[in-house]
Amino acid sequence: MRRRSLFTLSRLALLVILLLCLGSGFVVMGQTQTGSDADKVSISVDVSKPGAKIDRNLFGQFAEHLGHGVYEGIWVGPDSNIPNTRGIRNDVVTALKALRVPNVRWPGGCFADEYHWRKGIGPQRMVTLNSNWGGVVEPNTFGTHEFMDFLDQIGAEAYLSVNVGSGTPQEAAEWLEYLTTSQATTLGKERAANGHPAPYKIAYLGIGNESWDCGGNMTPDYYVSQLKIYSRFVRNFNPAQQGQQQMLKIAVGPGGPEARFTEWTEAVMKAWQNHQWSWDMNGLSLHSYTVLHWDKKLASMGFGETEYSQVLKATLDMDGLIAKHSAIMDQYDPQKKIALVVDEWGGWYAPLPGTDPGFLVQQNSMRDAVLAALNLNIFVRHADRVRMSNIAQMINVLQAMIMTDKEKMVLTPTYYVYKMYVPFQDATFVPVAFNAGTYVNGNISLPRVDAIAAKDATGKLWLAITNLDPNKAIEIDANVAGTSGKSAVGETLTAPKVDSVNTFEAPRTVVPKSVSTTVRDGKLTLKLDPKSVTVISVQ
Ligand code: AHR
Repeated sequence: MRRRSLFTLSRLALLVILLLCLGSGFVVMGQTQTGSDADKVSISVDVSKPGAKIDRNLFGQFAEHLGHGVYEGIWVGPDSNIPNTRGIRNDVVTALKALRVPNVRWPGGCFADEYHWRKGIGPQRMVTLNSNWGGVVEPNTFGTHEFMDFLDQIGAEAYLSVNVGSGTPQEAAEWLEYLTTSQATTLGKERAANGHPAPYKIAYLGIGNESWDCGGNMTPDYYVSQLKIYSRFVRNFNPAQQGQQQMLKIAVGPGGPEARFTEWTEAVMKAWQNHQWSWDMNGLSLHSYTVLHWDKKLASMGFGETEYSQVLKATLDMDGLIAKHSAIMDQYDPQKKIALVVDEWGGWYAPLPGTDPGFLVQQNSMRDAVLAALNLNIFVRHADRVRMSNIAQMINVLQAMIMTDKEKMVLTPTYYVYKMYVPFQDATFVPVAFNAGTYVNGNISLPRVDAIAAKDATGKLWLAITNLDPNKAIEIDANVAGTSGKSAVGETLTAPKVDSVNTFEAPRTVVPKSVSTTVRDGKLTLKLDPKSVTVISVQ
């Protein structure tokens, strides 16, 4: 009796394990099943089936008046000892130029919905308070002209977020007239008198920010009525931006998977589907940060494998979130005219000890490099709908590219991922099939590997492969048949530990190193270090 029940139990247990495995996709993911080929992953790239264009705007940035994101990070003023061009730090400009930043969203964030542009133009700036971020003094020395100069220096397009919260349609309309008219209106002449006779180009206009929360706690219907008004009256007059080059308008979209955001996306998309000639929009924003507990955020350094795997698991939810809101958008816009714009995302951790909690200062580790690659891969796989993203935030705030301290500057692991991914800008998506395998840590299971592929304008094939496993190297066996290349060269980014960081004292702990391999009969093999991001091209 006893033996029989034990046997029954173990059969039951086996069945449960098998079902669990099937449910989580373990069974098909070969290399974890047998010991012999445990470290091998086969990848097959299908160059004959190119997909959507990977819009370079997927690699956009976000700079808010928050902590040292703008002041000290970008702006030091023309009288500073730190080398600068018209007040903008030269070291930061040089570093950002290497990323080929496509666009920068500014001035916020929550800050945007309290921003009054007139306080930041002309010789006399109004000194105000930054009530969202630490209640500190906002000198407004970095205003419209300084932002446009910064964009000019790094070669990026403007993504302006206009104030729908505490501002008026009239104020926003006048800002755009000031910026874009080529005619001798009072506002056009004022811009010229302030040093810029030619109209500026404003490529993207965000109509509000998180209007469901810090941007005014609006209901979906109330926001839709605001959206119509701002879309109608906030015009771009630049003669070079009519027709094909028109400014694209981005509406506030969802901020998570909750039901209230389903309702929000439905309301905005339904309104757009039935829109009259008098208003339009081209994008819907989505905000989603990787945060485990908003009230008890994880540390950005000094953590171990548990927190590493927890954060990566959470960040992969981005895929489901995009799929969910894309599906709603598909109902109202099957032709995918409206882009989903993920204009705030990234890892959000506890403020570094000793910093102002309102400044959102955190370190950036090898974990963030993997997190960045995984999210960029998700965006690329959704490139038919996701056509822009803006990581939060560019300098000194949240998951930054760059950190500064007075005259010092350090490039973060996330910076290097963006640099390695430059070839994917405006490349064409190429499908890639692989058995991801499973990396298990405690009760967390993650795909062990992730990969994307694309062809650039010259026809060169690029592969980006991430090994999430922090303990095991992987040998990639890639089939790249259809390419004529004889070798594959590129860079790999890894680090001694999951929480390795670059500091002002040790800035080269997490930096890419070169990799290369030969291609024989359309096949290549490459060893990938544990916790690494690798980008190679076949040539
Ligand atoms: O990026 C920091 C803040 O996060 C932004 O200001 C806001 O839009 C979001 O809640």
